Amino acid sequence: MKTAKRKKLKIRKKNFTIFILTIFSFLFLVTKCINIITTHTTKETKKVPTTKEKQKGKNKNDKLETIKKELEYYNEEYQERYEKYLEENPKLSLEQVVKNVNMHLDQMPYEDIEEAKYQNTEKILVNKHYYLTKDYVPKNLENISTRYALSGMKLVKNAKEAFEKMAKDAEKQDLTIVAMSSYRSYTYQVNLYNRYTKEDGKEKADTYSGRAGHSEHQTGLAVDVYNKETNYTNFEKTDEYKWMQKHAQDYGFILRFPKNKEKETGYQFESWHYRYVGIEIAKYIKNNNISFEEYYATKIKDW
Ligand code: DAL
Ligand code: ZN
Repeated sequence: MKTAKRKKLKIRKKNFTIFILTIFSFLFLVTKCINIITTHTTKETKKVPTTKEKQKGKNKNDKLETIKKELEYYNEEYQERYEKYLEENPKLSLEQVVKNVNMHLDQMPYEDIEEAKYQNTEKILVNKHYYLTKDYVPKNLENISTRYALSGMKLVKNAKEAFEKMAKDAEKQDLTIVAMSSYRSYTYQVNLYNRYTKEDGKEKADTYSGRAGHSEHQTGLAVDVYNKETNYTNFEKTDEYKWMQKHAQDYGFILRFPKNKEKETGYQFESWHYRYVGIEIAKYIKNNNISFEEYYATKIKDW
């Protein structure tokens, strides 16, 4: 009897141990599973950055921090745009990134437009980003002498005087510089642009003509020239063009849409289109071989 009881007790003990072990193994497995599931979901939803990624982001922001102190034209309001543009153009120098964003090259032409600043001054910038309203008519418009212009050509007083002086000095060298288009009203530009789009389509027209409100001819500071003999589209081939390349800046004029600056200005090369910006700015632009957009983005703070 006694041995039978002991046997039973032994079996119970054994069963109990198996039971406890099973419970522990079960608990162990459950904890493991929960662990795996939670780690997996956290990785997916939170996307914890790797050390490399963390370092990269840190470097980028550090670099922008450094350049922020170095560049006078760094605009803190554009911080996010700088970061985004840098990410999209990692090969560009930080300086170039800041310049390009200041020139609004991170935006599409005619998108996010702003009204032109510095109205009625020589610093005004009008392009595919900065516009003039319908009713903007510059102050002090005057007729250019018909000795140096087709009839009815107007420019703002300072620009007109500088233009006449330039044309007169060129004349002394037997050169003929004649204004064939200068101040153009908003409405005039509406009709001109519409004509061009009918002839060439919008995409092509946008490479050589400003949409109404976006042409700097409306500022009264821009002038198209020719020499009376050669079609203005071939002005580049004339001696007058060569002379203007050497001297226009001394009278305060710049070639507004130069070669290799199409991305910045938004227009193809126009050998005939000049813009009055005053002698100081004109000389700076010429000596540094930059576009007016670049000058504006680095030298003029409009924020
Ligand atoms: N041709 C220049 C771009 C204008 O229309 O203003
Ligand atoms: Zn023009």
